Amino acid sequence: MSNSNEIMDPYLDASQIAARIASLGRSITEVGAGPSPLVVVCVLKGSFMFFADLVRQIDLPTNLVFLGVSSYGGATESSGAVRLTHDLTLDIRDRDVLIVEDIVDTGLTMSYLLDILRARAPRSLRVCTLLHKPARKRVDVPLDYVGFTIDDVFVVGYGLDYDERYRNVPYIGVLRFA
Ligand code: IMP
Repeated sequence: MSNSNEIMDPYLDASQIAARIASLGRSITEVGAGPSPLVVVCVLKGSFMFFADLVRQIDLPTNLVFLGVSSYGGATESSGAVRLTHDLTLDIRDRDVLIVEDIVDTGLTMSYLLDILRARAPRSLRVCTLLHKPARKRVDVPLDYVGFTIDDVFVVGYGLDYDERYRNVPYIGVLRFA
């Protein structure tokens, strides 16, 4: 699954991820439904796998929507520049919205997402991230649901990529360069 100089060390296995997602789904379900279906936003591409598993654990009426952002190139460092590559196809004014993200690292991407979605006047706006890497925080962002708080390591798999590879790996590993 790796190039010759890249090694993926196991970090979170599929059963750990599934157990944590079941618990996140219960927490989100417990809050209950508002006047209309919960708008669950998949932040492409990294959160597609997490999103697919999480929404199946949310026992509420939902509308599922997709938002594309791009912040990383081939490197493991954030450029800080966030670009919208695909906008929502639903008006979120007065709606309860849950953003589903793969990882919050510097927080720059989430801060950008919160700014653009808040400007559309939703009824409520919450954030669920599978991973949180607090060591590299550059801006504070409110995180309502966090799957795992992780060390300052570069992770791939389960939707997360390095140079567009590893997204299909069913578990999360730490990438190192031999
Ligand atoms: P932030 O803007 O620095 O918080 O980074 C957010 C985005 O960077 C995530 O949505 C990921 O796409 C990417 N990213 C950050 N850390 C990692 C990592 O360890 N592995 C893979 N992608 C990462």
